[in-house]
Amino acid sequence: MGKFYITTAIDYVNGSPHLGHAYEKVLADVIARFRRLMGDEVFFLTGVDEHGQKVQQSARARGIAPQQFCDEVSAEFRALCAKLDISNDDFIRTTEPRHKQVVRALLQQLYDQGEIYRAEYQGFYSTRQEQFLQEKDRNPDGSWPEIYGDVTEITESNYFFRLGKYQDWLIAYLKENEHFVFPRHRQQQVLEFLAEPLNDLCISRPKERLEWGIPLPFDEGYVTYVWFDALVNYYTAVVGKKDFWPADLHVIGKDILVPPHAVYWPIMLKALGLPPPKQVLAHGWWSINGKKMSKSTGNFVEPVAFADKYGVDALRYFMIREMSVGQDSDFSEAQFLARYNAELANNLGNLVNRVLNMTNRFAGGVIPALDADALAASGEPERALAALWDKTRDEAVALHEGYQFHLALERTLAFITATNAYIEHRAPWKLGKSAAPADTALLRAALATMAEALRLGSSLLPAVMPGTVKKIHAVLGYHAGENWRAELTWDARLAGRKVAEAAILFPRPETKPTATKTK
Ligand code: ME8
Ligand code: MG
Repeated sequence: MGKFYITTAIDYVNGSPHLGHAYEKVLADVIARFRRLMGDEVFFLTGVDEHGQKVQQSARARGIAPQQFCDEVSAEFRALCAKLDISNDDFIRTTEPRHKQVVRALLQQLYDQGEIYRAEYQGFYSTRQEQFLQEKDRNPDGSWPEIYGDVTEITESNYFFRLGKYQDWLIAYLKENEHFVFPRHRQQQVLEFLAEPLNDLCISRPKERLEWGIPLPFDEGYVTYVWFDALVNYYTAVVGKKDFWPADLHVIGKDILVPPHAVYWPIMLKALGLPPPKQVLAHGWWSINGKKMSKSTGNFVEPVAFADKYGVDALRYFMIREMSVGQDSDFSEAQFLARYNAELANNLGNLVNRVLNMTNRFAGGVIPALDADALAASGEPERALAALWDKTRDEAVALHEGYQFHLALERTLAFITATNAYIEHRAPWKLGKSAAPADTALLRAALATMAEALRLGSSLLPAVMPGTVKKIHAVLGYHAGENWRAELTWDARLAGRKVAEAAILFPRPETKPTATKTK
């Protein structure tokens, strides 16, 4: 227990939110919600990255001022968070005064400390990536890789941050902190990057070339490099909040680990005399129908439309169940529907229906108590299910701690499957036809057991499917308590609760695929 500060990357506003943005927010939200369940005081930050060449260009293309453009697109990202049930505590925009002020103060501090110097720079510059390139960035045939777009040779005077002098410190730090990057194999990539000499970082852009940025406090003829501006957001948001720095976890995609988050950021903080974040989690990338996500080719999923069509929790469930954190995955509507039907509608949804239906049919809608007769009637199947619960709970909690959410969901749904199998085995519909007292006692035991198994199984799901779990508990006439761990013990707390008539949690979806646009 303690304070837990978690962030996502802040998204570029040069385009609308896509599935990758949605996934990252949901993943961070699952972690934030899990930490809250475990009793931590969580501060969860997300937001948008609004400066830079690309935003300036996108605004120009639309013929509007950059600030208006940012206001419009930022509103879409905010709406995405609301739609996806993201429990962020703050939403930061890099054009906010609170952020500009912090960036300028930190730049001034580094300048005063002599960590920033001015020098003539001649080199090849990529407008698309907003960075100077080096000879090693060329293709073997001497051309520039396509990702850099137009590359031009320029000479200009710029400001540089003394990154290189911290190379040995960072290498030593990473060796001492083996868990700095999750998954661990990506920490190896950072060390490989650091095996080459680390150049100082050009952190300025002349205003003639880029206007849309934060002016350097010590030379207003320049704005600061977008990464220097963007990374600082994590610190801005907790200035004045006690004990929230260093951040506990930065959740980002694998493309922005090296060098920004694993090299620039810890070194910037070191130079400022601030501790580095405790951990950086680099998730993998989604492709769609086996191909790279791309708006221009139409291979694109609109997360808001998808959530509207199938339900936000179904989308959250799918993304978390399908992707092993750190690895890449493919998103297809067919695979989504396969899991939706098999795991949500026909497994979890089916269990909810059965509990409600049979409690209404055989017990007047009131969950039976395990009285002495019912307890005596329960036998091996009940004990086996309760034992499986203990194992499932312990595994699922440990898997959450290790970011293995896809496996936690797999174990939880396996417990739901086992509960459905238990119901088949006990066949309450047969017991209900018998007048023998032993059968009546067994029926009561079965109804109590299946309701308790549903309460418990769903109690492992609130980090991923918060709305669904609330609904399940509500139809059981139950309201979960504040202490999550205390919710996870098998007992008779549902006895006497009145269940709802019926609930449709996962309606049969329309089959017409509309979410993936094709031109
Ligand atoms: O990089 N699958 O912003 P961004 C999964 N502004 N994740 C994806 C993805 C995909 N197909 N495509 C993008 C930036 N992402 C900077 C960050 S942080 C101080 C500044 C992830 O809008 C990507 O990996 O290009 C990144 O973590 C996030 O979306 C925002 O990407
Ligand atoms: Mg990107």
